[in-house]
Amino acid sequence: MKALVYHGPGKMAWEEKPTPTITKPTDAIVKILKTTICGTDLHIMKGDLPAVTNGRIIGHEGVGIVEEVGSAVSNYKKGDHVIISCITSCGKCEYCKRGMYSHCTDGGWILGNLIDGTQAEYVRIPYADNSLYPIPAGSDEEALVMLSDILPTGFECGVLNGKVQPGDTLAIVGAGPIGMAALLTAQFFTPSEIIVIDLDDNRLATAKKFGATHTINSSDGKAVEKVLALTNGKGVDTAIEAVGTPVTFGICEAIVAAGGHLANIGVHGKSVTLHMETLWSKNITLTTRLVDTITTPMLFKNVQSKKIEPKQLITHHFKLDEIVKAYDTFGNAAREKALKVILTA
Ligand SMILES: NC(=O)c1ccc[n+]([C@@H]2O[C@H](COP(=O)([O-])OP(=O)(O)OC[C@H]3O[C@@H](n4cnc5c(N)ncnc54)[C@H](O)[C@@H]3O)[C@@H](O)[C@H]2O)c1
Ligand SMILES: [Zn+2]
Ligand SMILES: [Zn+2]
Repeated sequence: MKALVYHGPGKMAWEEKPTPTITKPTDAIVKILKTTICGTDLHIMKGDLPAVTNGRIIGHEGVGIVEEVGSAVSNYKKGDHVIISCITSCGKCEYCKRGMYSHCTDGGWILGNLIDGTQAEYVRIPYADNSLYPIPAGSDEEALVMLSDILPTGFECGVLNGKVQPGDTLAIVGAGPIGMAALLTAQFFTPSEIIVIDLDDNRLATAKKFGATHTINSSDGKAVEKVLALTNGKGVDTAIEAVGTPVTFGICEAIVAAGGHLANIGVHGKSVTLHMETLWSKNITLTTRLVDTITTPMLFKNVQSKKIEPKQLITHHFKLDEIVKAYDTFGNAAREKALKVILTA
């Protein structure tokens, strides 16, 4: 089969790889129908995630058709259409039983990281019963690709950890797909103000369409004073970090109000400065989280009923074998006016 293979920082190729086979009775082999590229894949390509080694097929999102199942898989059979979760979970270990699938002792975020991923014609999914979700006939499968990672990530790591409440003020730093997923799902809780901050005017205009009350282009370095001006000098009840850099984490630290929450989503490749000299007295909480995907069934219902429409995040379509071009588009999002790209097999 053909797959997108990582060959060290800045190097990737669409090349021939062996088609995966069942290695454990709990595995399934899924033929990819649609996949996409995540901001985390861009971090991998920059070398921010050294656990990803030369030769790895990357990608951790997608929908597909079950091609083959191991003898212990009971929820799925050949021909079933499925959503692939970015998180692999056995459903049985201590962490899975606590709903913390991200730290499954034999899973977590391994797909396209520690094992081969979804930017390929076929992928092996361990613990298929718990790591796949069924797609009913007639569903809009492109919209469902957004359930593999971005919607549960924005919602769990950003909105739930950030404890967004009705009437609250919220700032989201980073208007990529993850920040946008936080923006869409934060509105379940009706915050009164949602300020979205990014460097990309096109993404900020899109954020306005999706419900941001204010947008700030932070390229002038004045995001903090602008947020304080919008909030009577208090800052925001919740600051969601959806980029993963010292600068954007610093903005969140400076704009979180007393009693507020700083919910980090971004994958960080470098250490950040924790400003305890100002934060120690502010009664804030700081949270980090690797997405658990425990809210995927709830989000699925809201996508099916169109309460949220993540399909709006899709800006570009490519054929699966054009994936190197798709990386160039997603990696130059401001130039290309790109948000989420869909690759179709
Ligand atoms: N915690 C998790 O489980 C989890 C899961 C998935 C993704 N992530 C991470 O979430 C982050 C966002 O992912 P994405 O797919 O939206 O990525 P992305 O690269 O598409 O978006 C990042 C956005 O940040 C903006 N940005 C960069 N520097 C900025 C600055 N100084 N000020 C303001 N904005 C700035 C960019 O313009 C871009 O719009 C990434 O770090 C990704 O690795 C975390
Ligand atoms: Zn991701
Ligand atoms: Zn487990």
